[in-house]
Amino acid sequence: MIKETFNPNPELAANAAIKNMDEYWTLQNKALEDYEGFWREYADEKIDWLAPYDQVLDESNAPFYKWFINGKLNVSNQCIDRHLADKADKTAILFEGDRGDVEKISYAQLSLRVNRMANLLRDEFGVGKGDRVVLYMPMIPEAAYAMLACARIGAIHSIVFGGFSAEALKDRIEDAEAKLVITADGAYRKGKPYMLKHVVDDALSQGGKSVEAVLVVKRNNEEITWVEGRDHDYNELITSQHAECPFELMDSEDPLFLLYTSGSTGKPKGVQHATAGYILWAQMTMEWVFDIKEDDVYWCTADIGWITGHTYIIYGPLAAGTTTIMFEGVPTYPDAGRAWKMVQDHKINQFYTAPTAIRVLHKMGEHEPEKYDLSSLKVLGTVGEPIDPPAWKWYYETVGNSKCAIVDTWWQTETGGHMISPLPGATPIKPACATFALPGIIAEVIDPDGTPKEIGETGLLCITKPWPSMIRNIWGDPKRYEKAYFGDAVKNGKPVYFSGDGAVVDEEGYITITGRVDDVINVSGHRMGTAEIEAAVKKDDSVAEVAVVGRPHDIKGESIFIYIVLKEGHINKDIKNHINALLAAEIGNIAIADHIIEVPGLPKTRSGKIMRRILRSIAKHEEITQDISTLEDPSIVEQLVTKAREA
Ligand code: WTA
Repeated sequence: MIKETFNPNPELAANAAIKNMDEYWTLQNKALEDYEGFWREYADEKIDWLAPYDQVLDESNAPFYKWFINGKLNVSNQCIDRHLADKADKTAILFEGDRGDVEKISYAQLSLRVNRMANLLRDEFGVGKGDRVVLYMPMIPEAAYAMLACARIGAIHSIVFGGFSAEALKDRIEDAEAKLVITADGAYRKGKPYMLKHVVDDALSQGGKSVEAVLVVKRNNEEITWVEGRDHDYNELITSQHAECPFELMDSEDPLFLLYTSGSTGKPKGVQHATAGYILWAQMTMEWVFDIKEDDVYWCTADIGWITGHTYIIYGPLAAGTTTIMFEGVPTYPDAGRAWKMVQDHKINQFYTAPTAIRVLHKMGEHEPEKYDLSSLKVLGTVGEPIDPPAWKWYYETVGNSKCAIVDTWWQTETGGHMISPLPGATPIKPACATFALPGIIAEVIDPDGTPKEIGETGLLCITKPWPSMIRNIWGDPKRYEKAYFGDAVKNGKPVYFSGDGAVVDEEGYITITGRVDDVINVSGHRMGTAEIEAAVKKDDSVAEVAVVGRPHDIKGESIFIYIVLKEGHINKDIKNHINALLAAEIGNIAIADHIIEVPGLPKTRSGKIMRRILRSIAKHEEITQDISTLEDPSIVEQLVTKAREA
């Protein structure tokens, strides 16, 4: 462990949005004293309201909270139109292709392209307010245009990460009952074309009957199959669209988008975000956590298929009027210096990535950052999984030259934006620690009954007051929303939001995330439900029982470890390849397991409950300290330990 505390760089602090901890506490105390007043002030200052709201927060139907009641706005106006007066020529999106092609899209050009796309969706495909549009897109500017075009006409986008399989795409299309799918022929990765459109074809041949049309962006012009009548060529249709497109007046609480994410049980859930609260917090956190300044160039390496891409590549940066980089490729191609070369070429000021990427870049090119001029960097961010001290140290010293702030941002798909994070100009940083809740966010580490945990004790990480950018619902399943997020902890008798993560608070009030306490695992920063993986494996006829756990992994944080019991009389010689092929088809390559072992049985209590804690310990090669005498067959543990050692 690194015990040192790193004070903010005084130069950075002098001009920061929040300059010291006194300012932080003043803000946080303001929120505690007058919660609605705190949020009213920011909503009034930051949002371009087209009609005023008449109430800040409505808690009458908790936990279905509503914010900025009856207010009217449009997110595409907030991100584009309102900037045109003084930023028309400023680069909004700086696109760098996999092969090094660069395109700078100004706010004026973004406006034109989004308007055209919005007209295309509305006039040619009849997409209107409340309709769902699924995006299955690579990292190209048209993905951003599509998101903002949906926001402009009030359609609800649901982006499905391009690494998901046809089956997973079909499930998400069906759950959202999407009217239109927007995709691309493919894109480029590691110097070669890769294809996406065929996945949409497969998905729609299996189901997705609500889909009336598929809009295809041509990026790499490789050959694709075409379904006449259903498929439409974006590049051809877009040229004849009007340059003007009036935006829809949206209510504060109208859904802005859905984003499917994994939970501890059942199928992925469509996390539903609302308009006003989401965009307000996206913009505020850009200003506070990344300390965005007028001429900054900002790069977040996420994919738009994840929440980080939504909030911190598109909506937050554009709402804040900054220049945001969109990168098609991978940071290790053509070599481990690609990311650093991009920082040098574009004079990037804020760089935001996942610990897995930092570990890969560290491993592949420890001294690579030294070859480039990285002096433009001010703030380095991490997200998605715990960062380990060695990776933190390298990021701080070698990438940041010991002068940048490292913001370890803790948040979730459901929270919409950052919740717990250092502030670059204010927070003395303890490595690998998310530090303090942001002003306005009330995060507590408690027991299920609301009792605060003692210093140093792990408890449930809960957000005990609603916040503007919070999840509003699980699409079509309000009961599941209540149960999944407000069913585990109460405070003063009232259900509070439980994140699924554990955390611990130290004597100075610093919060450290200890990881998920439910059956969700985090592989390379990708969140996956073990139940979802188990359901996919069970589709194989030879499988009688299956249990999935996470196992610590040097680079990926966690890897997938699967125990399989075969049905009697079944032998499966090549079980690993066989099951991984199934997982790739059912979920996508991100669900491929590192370890799959065939075992004679699973450790179960006499009432038939699988003892997952034992399975986790075995996968980690930990000593079994749990009491196994209550197991139906205690001898199974020894057999599993032997099998796991061989794996
Ligand atoms: C984990 C990603 C430790 C956590 C934005 C959370 C983190 C899940 C951090 C959400 C962090 C995210 N330190 N763990 N800084 N940030 N996590 O929905 O377990 O893809 O619950 O959102 O990632 O993942 P999601």
